Amino acid sequence: MDIPVLTIDGPSGAGKGTVSRLIAQKLGWHYLDSGAIYRALALELTEKDVLHESIAEIVDVALGMDLVFECSEDRAVLLNGQDITDLLGLESTGNNASKIASIPEIRAALLQKQHDFKQAPGLVADGRDMGTVVFSEAKYKVFLTASASERAERRYKQLKEKGIDANLSEITADIQERDQRDSERQISPLVPAADAIYIDSSTISVQAVVDEVLSLVR
Ligand code: C5P
Repeated sequence: MDIPVLTIDGPSGAGKGTVSRLIAQKLGWHYLDSGAIYRALALELTEKDVLHESIAEIVDVALGMDLVFECSEDRAVLLNGQDITDLLGLESTGNNASKIASIPEIRAALLQKQHDFKQAPGLVADGRDMGTVVFSEAKYKVFLTASASERAERRYKQLKEKGIDANLSEITADIQERDQRDSERQISPLVPAADAIYIDSSTISVQAVVDEVLSLVR
């Protein structure tokens, strides 16, 4: 059976996670947060203190990770049995993830974990290279973006709401640095797939984005 896949790629903070989850829920499809896989590996490497070791060692760690995405309401992520949900969201985790994500051997080692999510009745996959590389055969592809200032504002609000101290200009600089690294890397750079529809969420609501994407699938 041909399992339908909807890919939603774009830079960090564009709203991919929120939109993808809502759509997966609405369609009753599975959801892959591929960034969480890169983030989990960054955490594991930090924990084992091998972030700066040889690529072969890092690949070994990547292949050995026991990663479970729970489908319960709180969507916990377990790494080797430990709940890492809160640690995944840290800025430092995202930055470390972005650094290791530019290494081809690491991307190759994480490919199978991502392919495993493609199961009936369908999959919504969010990331940077879902439509260009990992699920290049996908029937539906979206590139979701927003201006860097809007994405920084959203991140700033999120952190404040969680009671985390945040600095808007630092967040903006971080976002710009990460965008540049993700877009300019040699392997699987952040670019829209040729057959993706392009949505700029800077000035439209989450619901409007969800409706537009759903109309593509339906
Ligand atoms: O999407 P998220 O911000 O969680 O991703 C963290 C980092 O992981 C990104 O900045 C990017 O470098 C990397 N990533 C990637 N390919 C993906 C998903 C994430 O390179 N498909």
